[in-house]
Amino acid sequence: MFSNLLPCPAHLKPLGGSRALAKHEPTLLNDPGLPAEGYRLSITADEATLAYSTDAGKFYGLQTLLQLRQTDGTVPLALIEDAPAFRWRGFMIDSSRHIQTVEEIKTFIDAASRFKLNVFHWHLCDDPGWRLEVERYPRLAEVAAYRDGWGFGNDNPERYGGCFTKAQIRDIIDFCAARHITVVPEFDIPGHSSALIHAYPHLSCTGDDVAVLKDACVSDNVLCPGKETTFDFCEGVLEEIIDLFPGQYIHIGGDEVPKDSWDACPLCQKRIADEGLADSEELQGYFTKRIAAFIKSHGKTPIGWNEVLNAGLDPDDVVVCKWHDDRSRCDDFANRGGKIIMEETKHVYLDYDYHRTPLQQTYRYNLLPDSLTAAGKQNVLGIEAPIWTEWVETFRRMCYMCFPRLLAAAELGWYGKAATDYPDFKARAEAQRSALAAIGVEMAPLSDWDPE
Ligand code: ACM
Ligand code: ZN
Repeated sequence: MFSNLLPCPAHLKPLGGSRALAKHEPTLLNDPGLPAEGYRLSITADEATLAYSTDAGKFYGLQTLLQLRQTDGTVPLALIEDAPAFRWRGFMIDSSRHIQTVEEIKTFIDAASRFKLNVFHWHLCDDPGWRLEVERYPRLAEVAAYRDGWGFGNDNPERYGGCFTKAQIRDIIDFCAARHITVVPEFDIPGHSSALIHAYPHLSCTGDDVAVLKDACVSDNVLCPGKETTFDFCEGVLEEIIDLFPGQYIHIGGDEVPKDSWDACPLCQKRIADEGLADSEELQGYFTKRIAAFIKSHGKTPIGWNEVLNAGLDPDDVVVCKWHDDRSRCDDFANRGGKIIMEETKHVYLDYDYHRTPLQQTYRYNLLPDSLTAAGKQNVLGIEAPIWTEWVETFRRMCYMCFPRLLAAAELGWYGKAATDYPDFKARAEAQRSALAAIGVEMAPLSDWDPE
């Protein structure tokens, strides 16, 4: 009877039996003593109440009730006292490599919200296309949003692309807000920028025109931090992002930045000399600190991929997404007081196929490894699972890759660790199939989840 509950609640006491529950039930009760995002659901023979201290807690209690409701309309009798272990329970969608429609994105968000995920990190720009309307820089939507060829790794000549308008983005933000999901926009700089450099070539070191990429490479064409115009441009874009997105966090990327053009650029070398920096790696540190300070001066919190730590940053400079970190810089950062989000490739990169990352490997992700001190563990904000779309051309494929592995991430984020034995989790995940299908999300077949 509780085999539909996912994520697993923190405390569940079955009372035996079940009862009908009318639409207007349960009785709603504000209880300021409950944790934010927490709720208490009490379904007994005589009463049905849902207590919460915030609207988010009420929403999560109602999601639990939705899962408890059987096909005959009855609900099992139980006491559930529940609250999340982590405050960051995220999913990321890459809309650059392949773009989705507004309706597809909403469907995905709706599905994610049923499992109490609360952060939508939106990867809105990258080498293969820019997807965010910026009024001050119209060539982003007109030029940077299109590439020659719709697929990756083929020569299809059809023009491919598109850009979300501000009205569409506001619509998605509102859709998320109704589901207690914060949208975190990503403006990935100074690397992964060849689409915007195609539209505004003067922002690179050489000023050469470059094509919008149509494969999965990391472009050598990056922004030039030797030029003040680069900072003017980035701040102009950020001002519009800050106006548009009401959430606290702005992601500034910072991953995979080839340094060859900086090493050869007189303006970059002058910046290194003027600022007393050691090399181009420290120049990225300078760039990150300056952009992060701009964001903080607007009352927002910057986030970066873990490469932003390569030049050394202070714990209060940025929040860091740990995706691959051979040198344990994220652990050191968290142990020194920096906030981190767990997003490691081998567990939660949902673009990796099920052979490489079986469901079990996602479910067994330890978010609080022993490399973190007790204080460091307190600085893990939570988990995030990205779907990169180089090889994910359709929404159907995206759903196949994400469901059920995103459900494993949701349980780790809410319950805090693997909640139960693995077969039990797998059964609860399979039990979501028809509810997901009813909203247009088709899960991968059970036989694909854990290939031999
Ligand atoms: C990343 O996967 N480049 C963050
Ligand atoms: Zn330069």
